[in-house]
Amino acid sequence: MLLSAPVLRTQPSWVPALSLCRPPPGLRLSEQRQQRPVRGESGAAASTSAMGALQLAQEGVRLLYWGAGAATLLFSLLAAFAFRLLLQSLGKWQALRPIPGVSPCYPLLGNALFFKRKGEDFFKQLIDNLEEMRNLPLLKLWIGPLPFVVVYHPDTVEVIVSSSKHIEKSYPYKFLHPWLGTGLLTSTGDKWRSRRKMITPTFHFTILTDFLEVMNEQASILVDKLEKHVDKEPFDCFLDITLCALDIICETAMGRNVGAQINRDSEYVRAIYKMSDLIHHRQKSPWLWPDLVYPMLQEGREHTRSLKILHTFTDNVIAEKTHEIKDHTQCKDDLDDNCEQSGRKRRRAFLDMLLNATDDEGNKLSYVDIREEVDTFMFEGHDTTAAAMNWVIYLLGCHPEAQKKVHSELDEVFGNSERPVTMDDLKKLRYLECVVKEALRLFPSVPFFARTTSEDCYIRGFKVPKRTEVVIVPYVLHREPEIFPDPEEFRPERFFPENSSGRHPFAYVPFSAGPRNCIGQRFAQMEEKAVLAIILRRFWVETSQEREELGLVGELILRPKKGIWIQLKRRRNCVS
Ligand code: HEM
Repeated sequence: MLLSAPVLRTQPSWVPALSLCRPPPGLRLSEQRQQRPVRGESGAAASTSAMGALQLAQEGVRLLYWGAGAATLLFSLLAAFAFRLLLQSLGKWQALRPIPGVSPCYPLLGNALFFKRKGEDFFKQLIDNLEEMRNLPLLKLWIGPLPFVVVYHPDTVEVIVSSSKHIEKSYPYKFLHPWLGTGLLTSTGDKWRSRRKMITPTFHFTILTDFLEVMNEQASILVDKLEKHVDKEPFDCFLDITLCALDIICETAMGRNVGAQINRDSEYVRAIYKMSDLIHHRQKSPWLWPDLVYPMLQEGREHTRSLKILHTFTDNVIAEKTHEIKDHTQCKDDLDDNCEQSGRKRRRAFLDMLLNATDDEGNKLSYVDIREEVDTFMFEGHDTTAAAMNWVIYLLGCHPEAQKKVHSELDEVFGNSERPVTMDDLKKLRYLECVVKEALRLFPSVPFFARTTSEDCYIRGFKVPKRTEVVIVPYVLHREPEIFPDPEEFRPERFFPENSSGRHPFAYVPFSAGPRNCIGQRFAQMEEKAVLAIILRRFWVETSQEREELGLVGELILRPKKGIWIQLKRRRNCVS
């Protein structure tokens, strides 16, 4: 007691409150051991030591009580949470009972064990099952404790996507939040409405016209790269086309040329792909969902690393752009100044427009808001178009008669020239447009997307309660035989005006539909047509890869796991 009294006196008043943070007994013991009196010291010292040990034991017991208390509290909280979840799940289970489901379906795990783990097998299994169940009006799947209602008929899809109420994205989109925040793709309610209104003008026709210059430049780098494959063995063109799309979006979204086509080993590029893989894997694995656990796992740590690379890159670009805009404004104001940029037309990027955009009250977007949107464009705006262009190349390689029609249309518009593509040219490429649409029907870049219902609704007479996850599957929807006879056949004529008029408006939704449709649809169609026109003006494409050899993977994007293997022949010598 005597020993401890002065210590207590010198301790500040907050110390007792932190008794839980005291060093563990082991540490105290070693401190005591260091202070142990040497042999021959007084009996008083020995009895002090015994008292110290007693005090230590008491503290140990106290600590144990605290530990047990904390553990009980934690356990109770977890149990309460699990109980709530269970009750909610049971409620949903009951409410969704009439909707046809898939077996085996186990409590808590749902259909998770039924699904194959490998991406390729998973997608095939899902699609085969949905195809078998096409006659059912809709379907229910359980992933862990979460039920998903799956829709794939035009009238059932319409109930969800045409609604201005069901605009909230589904739970698994939450795993995009660390990267994209709540930007246009992931936000909901008033935030989404205000952002959509602010951002829509940035996709105006005149701005898109400026972007055509970037598309021309990047596509000509691509065709020059492809030259080395002319009259050679088959090669996989997937990455070449993807890097071209990436360069296009980097320059149009941020005004930065990352030169991915030249330097394919960029850290930023690698981080984009790593992040997409990690997000998709987490979405499929309910045990990776808890935010408390995920960062501690190997995958979570990789996620943190990639996130840092992605955000640092965007942060730097935004900072540089802000300075550039300031300098440019100063240049314009200062007429006497020998300004480097004067006389040269500055190329606009989405980022420039975001920096100037204002809402109804005249408020500008904050720095974080801008980063969310730039990251969203980067995520949504290149993999989607890259996959779509690859599918066109593959399908034309399989269908020489359709490719010949594309070539004669290109010859009509461009003659023998390799001049840059203009907006007027694009308007004239009507057959190519039908090819692009048909490719997106067979291989929609976004094979499924999902919403959370904001109120009870009825789909073909089945009640779908409020806050249910609903998944829309364009891949299956686009194969409705009554609307698209012989659905597996590639027939661009389906999209000739005379053949598509009167078609159900929700039978074909590669860009989604309704209020939350793809804001980049026109940009994407323009990019696809421009890049494909440039490739196909110069080359004839062949492939002997069968559909079964593609290894379709429906992750965030529909990709061919095994790549797109083509052979190239030069059509003729063109004039620039
Ligand atoms: C072939 C190319 C593309 C396809 C097939 C496609 C498809 C889609 C689909 C299906 C959605 C709805 C997603 C959902 O509800 O989860 C969507 C949304 C969106 N897309 Fe695209 N997209 C393409 C290209 C682009 C491009 C090039 C950009 C930007 C430059 C873009 C930006 C967006 C954004 C920001 C959203 C969210 C819109 C909102 O919720 O208001 N997309 N896209």
